[in-house]
Amino acid sequence: MMTFQMLCFLFLFSVFILCDANFSVPYISVNTERLIEDLKILGQFSDGDYPGITRLLYSKEDKAARRYLIALFEKSGLSVSWDPVGNIFARWEGSDPRAPAVASGSHFDTLLNAGLYDGTLGVLGALEAVRSLKEVGFEPKKSIEIVAFTSEEVSRFGIGCLGSRYLVGSLTVEELLKLKDSDGVSFENARQSCGYIEKLRESMIAEDYYSAFVELHIEQYHILEDEGVPIGLVTDIAAPSLYTIEWKGPGGHAGSVPSYERQDPFLAASEFALNLEQLVLKDPKNTRATIGRVEVYPGSAGAIPRSVRLSLDIRDINEAARIKVKEQALEKAAAIARKRKVTMETLHNYSYPPAKMDPRIVEVIEDSCRAHNFSYLKLISRPFHDSLFMATKFPTGMIFIPCKEGKSHVPDEYASPEDILRGVEVLAETLARLSYQ
Ligand SMILES: *[C@@H]1O[C@H](CO)[C@@H](O)[C@H](O)[C@H]1NC(C)=O
Ligand SMILES: *[C@@H]1O[C@H](CO)[C@@H](O)[C@H](O)[C@H]1NC(C)=O
Ligand SMILES: *[C@@H]1O[C@H](CO)[C@@H](O)[C@H](O)[C@H]1NC(C)=O
Ligand SMILES: [Zn+2]
Repeated sequence: MMTFQMLCFLFLFSVFILCDANFSVPYISVNTERLIEDLKILGQFSDGDYPGITRLLYSKEDKAARRYLIALFEKSGLSVSWDPVGNIFARWEGSDPRAPAVASGSHFDTLLNAGLYDGTLGVLGALEAVRSLKEVGFEPKKSIEIVAFTSEEVSRFGIGCLGSRYLVGSLTVEELLKLKDSDGVSFENARQSCGYIEKLRESMIAEDYYSAFVELHIEQYHILEDEGVPIGLVTDIAAPSLYTIEWKGPGGHAGSVPSYERQDPFLAASEFALNLEQLVLKDPKNTRATIGRVEVYPGSAGAIPRSVRLSLDIRDINEAARIKVKEQALEKAAAIARKRKVTMETLHNYSYPPAKMDPRIVEVIEDSCRAHNFSYLKLISRPFHDSLFMATKFPTGMIFIPCKEGKSHVPDEYASPEDILRGVEVLAETLARLSYQ
């Protein structure tokens, strides 16, 4: 029979759990060796020159990596599912399975000849967090779900965060069906040849499907390393945008046409590039502008170029500032075109708003750092991540760990076992706490 005291105890206990004021997670023992071993095995699914890693969306290496991840998730007793674009979900059912789950994850594709940790740390780190919580007997209340995103990098189909954008509904089936890679292979064919034969449909994920999303990632810069701080707490993600500018002229013979008669689109592009640098130097702390790709046509040594096409990537944490820089840059480009008597066309590839990380989640990550006595630093993520899009639908947070000399997207990208250990401990603590909130 239930005594009054027992009822009181149960009531107080549930209040304690619900309020979570002094929630404490059992001592977590993260197995860094096991995690690094998994990272290295995943790194072997690569089409690049060792030690660089190349794993493009829906390639045979990507397919093998998917098989490996699914096997690892199943081995840890998680229930695995995927959607039509191949986002993989691995769920650890909580005692309240109907409550919105707590999600954590990142991507596992790479650019060409890239590193071992970008993205993969967030996928396998989430798995290690779950394994260590399971091993100490922790039982989640809200389910904890690992998400391994399809294609975050702008590698094969020229579009970043493909999986997360699809998931939150910011990339439609119609847009997906238009995508082709540089060999002319359609997204749809590539998808099906990787085994995703289910008909493409819009993702219908509900706003309350996840109560939180947390992504662990290497910083990809060196603020944490410079400051000697092991954990970075992301507060904002800068907003990316991409434009294409093309100048055209009549061309001509490199030997006969004198300089004063030329209408050279390459010189227009060059003048623009140096002007762009001056423009950005007005606010070098916040604005980033990059010309990363230049195509010169016809590209013969003996001919004046007839067209030059360049990519213009502009980012800022402040969207209005970014738009202002874009407008000033394009005005300048047009003025240069008039002066040099070449035509100009611009094309808008994409722009996205910046994301704010959820203050409640930032606070839980802070508490988790304190619980483990790790110092931390709040910072802005200038690269974008799947979190940029997850944040449009779910309360989102990001945990950064240092990477050596801030290097990323290169073969010698490196995060130390000690930093990985601290990152995963904070992630595990954060997921455990969020599962009881
Ligand atoms: C949480 O812990 C603090 C400090 O140990 C204490 O002052 C506070 O009363 C506790 N809160 C609850 C709800 O137990
Ligand atoms: C931007 O869009 C144009 C036109 O669709 C395309 O040719 C170009 O490759 C895109 N740029 C990038 C970097 O994807
Ligand atoms: C926490 O870290 C500080 C500074 O690193 C150290 O002095 C202190 O002893 C640590 N406390 C615990 C409980 O580990
Ligand atoms: Zn990444």
